[in-house]
Amino acid sequence: MSSQLSFRDRIECATLLAADTPLEQVLATGWVRTKRESKGFAFLEINDGSGLANLQVIIDAAAQGYDCLPAIATGSAVSVRGALIESPGKGQRWELSATELIVIGACADDFPLQKKRHSDEFLRTIAHLRARTNKYGAMARIRSRLSWAIHDFFQKRGFNYIHTPIITGSDCEGAGEMFRVTTHDPYASKTSTRDEDFFGKEAHLTVSGQLSVETYCLALSKVYAFGPTFRSENSNTSRHMAEFWMVEPEIAFADIHDDMQLAEDLVRALVEFVIEDCAEDLDLFARFVDKDLMTRLQALRERSFTRLTYGEAIELLQKADQTFEFKPEWGADLQAEHERYLTESHFNGPVFVYDWPKEIKAFYMRMNDDGRTVAAMDLLVPHCGELVGGSAREERLDVLTQRINELGFDEKDYWWYLDTRRFGSVPHAGFGLGFERFLMFVTGVANIRDVIPFPRTPRNLDF
Ligand code: 4AD
Ligand code: MG
Repeated sequence: MSSQLSFRDRIECATLLAADTPLEQVLATGWVRTKRESKGFAFLEINDGSGLANLQVIIDAAAQGYDCLPAIATGSAVSVRGALIESPGKGQRWELSATELIVIGACADDFPLQKKRHSDEFLRTIAHLRARTNKYGAMARIRSRLSWAIHDFFQKRGFNYIHTPIITGSDCEGAGEMFRVTTHDPYASKTSTRDEDFFGKEAHLTVSGQLSVETYCLALSKVYAFGPTFRSENSNTSRHMAEFWMVEPEIAFADIHDDMQLAEDLVRALVEFVIEDCAEDLDLFARFVDKDLMTRLQALRERSFTRLTYGEAIELLQKADQTFEFKPEWGADLQAEHERYLTESHFNGPVFVYDWPKEIKAFYMRMNDDGRTVAAMDLLVPHCGELVGGSAREERLDVLTQRINELGFDEKDYWWYLDTRRFGSVPHAGFGLGFERFLMFVTGVANIRDVIPFPRTPRNLDF
């Protein structure tokens, strides 16, 4: 029966739009973006998410299901059988001349995506529907393709993908910005003890897979983790979320310079990939979101990334012909305005800042010979600031133990981590690349909440 819908028989809109020749009997499905009616015929633009462009459907009174047109509105789900023919109209090569139209899912009158353009702020309030817009559909496709490209990059180079735990008993960054995991009711009046809790000790959501992935690095030499990480930092900025995805490679027999090179190779490969593979979707961002996007991405392709030490960066900022709200001073973290100066005004491209004061970096970073800096690196990029944070790891048992104690942590909590320094320790290094920051960088989207399907930020958990 022709009216039966089969997933196998349907041809995606993107495939139809890329056809070389007309096709006789095809079945397309999708959601109606627009409907235009004339006397005796109508046009529907449908989209099934397979690509940015809509498939134009023309239907006339002779087609089966023509009488259901009044029941079709923007947002309705339909299936259309017909012939793919050359479109006489402007703007598209092909159109689907319908012989049969079926409403699969009607759309209620209050469907909020009636207009062509909506503000990002509004769309965040309907995160369950925003993937039906061009921009968020394009973002979802780019996000998916880039996730694959990350795996492809590492797998091709012989890295092993390690699934690090999400529930953890240790604080990797030592910053204490962790969500607690418990089976106890925190709002109950009866107080309970750690011993009575599920794990019999404090448990948290991981802030980074690094400590776990390091143990596999010291067995497999080249590894990476790629998964969700969680931070309860209460900063309501356009670059921070409570839940975000991080790519974390770790390489053995390597130093900070190998680490920076790997980060540069990764970022460059992903930018190349998105330009080639996601051209149609990327073009939407280049036209409607960030006019400088393609210039920025092309520039990155052509030049190698700047490398300078933290000390050099501070000097440069102090000499800058610009007044900063926060005076650049040795020992202080770089502020967004400093990052912007370096990446957008001075070097006009990605910049690695390495060898940071030990006081503002994590306990596991390798101590330099000067005793006051650690072999840490941040990759700063135009538009989104810090994209990558990484370091050489302190592989010397005595130095690492001393750091843990200096910072007031309990050695016992890190017994297994310290074990790896007792049993065949080697120099190794790694980094974390914030996947959402990277998506901001390659699409020009200004708010991190708009590059992930369901953003998690303070006081925001509607979906
Ligand atoms: O610099 P961070 O804190 O580094 C680490 O967690 C290391 N343990 C990673 C490693 O060496 N394996 O975080 C790495 C990156 C940052 O550069 C940033 O891009 C991103 O993760 N990031 C965030 N992205 C979104 N929201 C947040 N709250 C983020 N915090 C960090
Ligand atoms: Mg960092």
